[in-house]
Amino acid sequence: MPLRSRITGTGSYTPENVLTNLDLEKKVDTSDEWITERTGIKERRIVGDSETTSDLCLEASKRALQAADVKPADIELIIVATMSGDMPMPSTAALLQKKLHAINAAAFDLNAACSGFLFGLSTADNFIKAGTYRKILLVGADVMSKFIDWQDRSTCVLFGDGAGAVVLESSRGARGVISTHLFTDGNLWDFICLPGGGSQNPPSAKTMKDRLHFVKMKGNETFKVAVRTLEKLVVDTLKKNNLKLSELAMLIPHQANLRIIKATAERLNLPMNKVAINLDRYGNTSSASIPIALDEVVREGRIKKDDYILLEAFGAGLTWASALIKW
Ligand code: COA
Repeated sequence: MPLRSRITGTGSYTPENVLTNLDLEKKVDTSDEWITERTGIKERRIVGDSETTSDLCLEASKRALQAADVKPADIELIIVATMSGDMPMPSTAALLQKKLHAINAAAFDLNAACSGFLFGLSTADNFIKAGTYRKILLVGADVMSKFIDWQDRSTCVLFGDGAGAVVLESSRGARGVISTHLFTDGNLWDFICLPGGGSQNPPSAKTMKDRLHFVKMKGNETFKVAVRTLEKLVVDTLKKNNLKLSELAMLIPHQANLRIIKATAERLNLPMNKVAINLDRYGNTSSASIPIALDEVVREGRIKKDDYILLEAFGAGLTWASALIKW
């Protein structure tokens, strides 16, 4: 029997503060109608002033560890997928390791923007298949609210804050992560970027004045690439595993825009009751969106032992990725 990584526990956490579309109407020139029609988002969660990315990671991780019945000290590796960590260094994973008292775990961050959780899943899966680690905590977390321009209506309505976590354990048998598929097209790096604060534009009064420390997005161009790419991604992932679409119990897509998700489902001819949706309540939580959605469908009992589920994501880089899991 092959060595596989199996998700033995899921957990998620979103901040208490709710920001509705009606609240946003008071901040920028937008409307609940525009946001609902163009994105499907009704509200999102926003961290409190002192709440950090590692705080969200901690709560999601505790829930995942409890569900898996695994103690923090038994975790050998922590990967946090994020692009909005507590600070550029040390890693948010190191801060989480401290807060969680996961004293035996090595820890690092990984950044593939909204595809980060699936890049992390692939990394963790390969560590487990290689026999390097047997118990890994993988978290996807982002505090986008601190990195979006609250004066830019084209981006500030889209994002929210949150974290989702899974515990992966090595196991022999048919169940677990079956395959992961990662892609990047750096030529399209400027479709979604946060240009300030790195070595290209180090922080300065000018970068602050030019608002370079906020997310910039070519929304419409990104939308078109996303719809084209995601359908092919799902088809190719199924084909690689000799699986028919009808054998899929659930599709868990990155929650960026309901129109992208619906267009993908329509092109595939996949009924929407097999698609996990939560962006109406959380908006786009970037690296956290897939693990939060996964945690919800698991806790709602919508996926059962031996079900095939497919996870797919798309984000800055541009990056896109998928994972097929036998639950
Ligand atoms: N409220 C009201 N009007 C808004 C608005 C808002 N919040 N944001 C933009 N508009 C306006 C624009 O100014 C534009 O007006 P104009 O026609 O007078 O110039 C109009 O709405 C249409 O803008 P456009 O950007 O073409 O809208 P869209 O239908 O493409 O929807 C997004 C915008 C961002 C919702 C959509 O493009 C999208 O979801 N893109 C992909 C995001 C994504 O997948 N990212 C990857 C993961 S992070």
